[in-house]
Amino acid sequence: MQPNSQSDPHSPASVSGWGCAKVILVGEHFVVHGAPALALPLDSVGTRVTLRTADEGKSRLELPEAAKSDKSKEVVDRAFAILGLSDRRHDWNVGVESTVPLGQGLGSSASYGLALLRALAEAIDRPLSCEQLSEHAYEIEKIFHGRPSGVDNTVIAYEIPVIFSANEGIDLLRQVTLPRLILASTGTAGSTQDAVAKVRQHRQENTRRFRALCDEAKAITESCASLLQTKFGSDMGREMGKHLDHSHRLLQEVGVSTIELDCLVDTARNAGAYGAKLTGAGFGGFMLAAIDP
Ligand code: MEV
Repeated sequence: MQPNSQSDPHSPASVSGWGCAKVILVGEHFVVHGAPALALPLDSVGTRVTLRTADEGKSRLELPEAAKSDKSKEVVDRAFAILGLSDRRHDWNVGVESTVPLGQGLGSSASYGLALLRALAEAIDRPLSCEQLSEHAYEIEKIFHGRPSGVDNTVIAYEIPVIFSANEGIDLLRQVTLPRLILASTGTAGSTQDAVAKVRQHRQENTRRFRALCDEAKAITESCASLLQTKFGSDMGREMGKHLDHSHRLLQEVGVSTIELDCLVDTARNAGAYGAKLTGAGFGGFMLAAIDP
């Protein structure tokens, strides 16, 4: 919880919860099919949800214009229900402020879900473990994305780098050295659900090849994880760059890159980056590059 949270278990005048954003270093999409992904918290941007006592029976949901959708309301109802608070749904006004670009692969929905759950937990003075928060946030993620892997809610709940695998669970990476990374946006948003559906279709049409791609993705994630945990010196960025390039080729092959993303990746490489890839679901959103510090 952020320092400006206040709590009064009986009647909170105002409490808030925070959810950071995330970056998938490697393994997106293949994580949906059982391969591990390596994700990092991104705490320079995030979502803050503030709960304020509502006038009798007249609660309001205040959302940023771009986030207004039926799903946002459904999410609030669901979060109250998950915490057994449906009968108190109209006790609070819910205000949402976010600096996470929507639909651009930085985990805006999980950031919102975690912020909301933390605010509610604070309001009723019921501390939740990272594991509980992640499980609850996964339920909220399903409203936005159908059947997500769970990597986004996990890294945002724990707020440390994680290796996430639906089959093998999570590995929290407490001691890592990161190369210098930069993010750049195409400025366009994409639908995670559409991108995941596209990859599923690709898998159906190319079953054997897809299995090989999953194996490659797994090997990339494992290599990146050991790189981050080894004091590798100045060559770490160069090594990481090769893995990012490789990862981008896999994502191109399954059809989730775009001309704009490929253009950003090429621009980064031509400007001297060690390697670059799209990050997140693709179909727009951000490019991630490893650079010389
Ligand atoms: C989205 O942040 C990551 C994807 O792998 C989808 C998922 O893991 O559910 C594209």
